[in-house]
Amino acid sequence: ATYKLLLLPGDGIGIEVMAEVKRLIAWMNQNGLGTFETEEGLVGGAAYDTEGVAISDATMALAQAADAVIFGAVGGPKWASVPYEARPEAGLLRLRKDLGLYANLRPAICYPALAEASSLKREVVDGLDIMIVRELTGGVYFGEPKTIVDLGNGQKRAIDTQVYDTFEIERIGRVAFELARKRRNKVASMEKRNVMKSGVLWNEVMTALHAREFPDVALEHVLADAGGMQLVRWPKQFDVIVTDNLFGDMLSDVAAMLTGSLGMLPSASLGDVDPSTGTRKSMYEPVHGSAPDIQGKGIANPIAMLASFAMALRYSFGLGREADMVEQAIAATLDKGLRTADITSAGCKVVGTQEMGEAVIAE
Ligand code: NAI
Ligand code: MG
Repeated sequence: ATYKLLLLPGDGIGIEVMAEVKRLIAWMNQNGLGTFETEEGLVGGAAYDTEGVAISDATMALAQAADAVIFGAVGGPKWASVPYEARPEAGLLRLRKDLGLYANLRPAICYPALAEASSLKREVVDGLDIMIVRELTGGVYFGEPKTIVDLGNGQKRAIDTQVYDTFEIERIGRVAFELARKRRNKVASMEKRNVMKSGVLWNEVMTALHAREFPDVALEHVLADAGGMQLVRWPKQFDVIVTDNLFGDMLSDVAAMLTGSLGMLPSASLGDVDPSTGTRKSMYEPVHGSAPDIQGKGIANPIAMLASFAMALRYSFGLGREADMVEQAIAATLDKGLRTADITSAGCKVVGTQEMGEAVIAE
């Protein structure tokens, strides 16, 4: 099969880490590990500078036609004062919205070689491998009304509205249960049913979905605040965590810090399966931003970006073996003591972006 990729490097180190994905794709093409056709587009500040918008309609059309979008990072001080609608982040938000990417997958994996250097207790993070599934297109970030009202007596009132419909909870639940089946077969659903109606419905829908379609998967319900505590106390008790947009934002940032550096964290965002083709809209990106503080120095860690591409292999193309190869190559490279500056520790060899990319490919 031939896979069509749209590469959107974006700004800052997004461009630098995407170069290593291109190197990996070229290597895979040359070595018969898949046939990848790539196109490239502008997004974020780069798109604003040449096209006047954070992402153009033409680039959106390419994204719609691609089998997967591989995204670098956007933003930077250069665009601090562009109009709100054209700010770099607007490009990312339009991609998520127009492609209907409602499921955000954020794995938190602690590689053995990094557990030793972790500032956390080693036994807490060593061998950690959990997956947070965050609902990405609903909830309090999007619900209406969303406004600040002037009450006229020197007081204002801010209103955000948490809204979830059954179908939104069901489809994110399905993603989580299906993932769990390919992992350790456990889902923890996190909400606050004790104080929120959306939590009551979330709990009800997950329970029904589980009984109807996934009785073979273990399901537990955890109050989101207690879940945050457990995530720090003993994260290895979890396999897949499924939660709403707001709680997922917070819990995945907490989990991120269990793994070391922002430069290590990949993510995937998935939409619905198209019944006629069996494929789904998808975008893969590192969790980190454009890192203006290290931009242009050639020292950015490309592992989050490379691991995001591995997720594309697994979730968009069914190339699980090839995804494993990339992830094992990352682990082996770290085992050999190679480090970019953000993850360095005593006795390790510090290398730049390109050297790290080449070392992973060599493995
Ligand atoms: P950031 O993630 O760009 O950087 C935070 C810190 O982590 C910096 O010290 C940076 O040097 C370091 N870091 C991040 N990725 C790294 C890597 N691969 N290797 C080594 N070190 C790495 O977040 P920050 O500084 O808050 O934001 C910078 C810009 O990026 C802003 O314009 C922000 O809006 C944008 N941003 C974009 C995101 C995206 O495109 N998805 C996500 C987060 C921020
Ligand atoms: Mg966040």
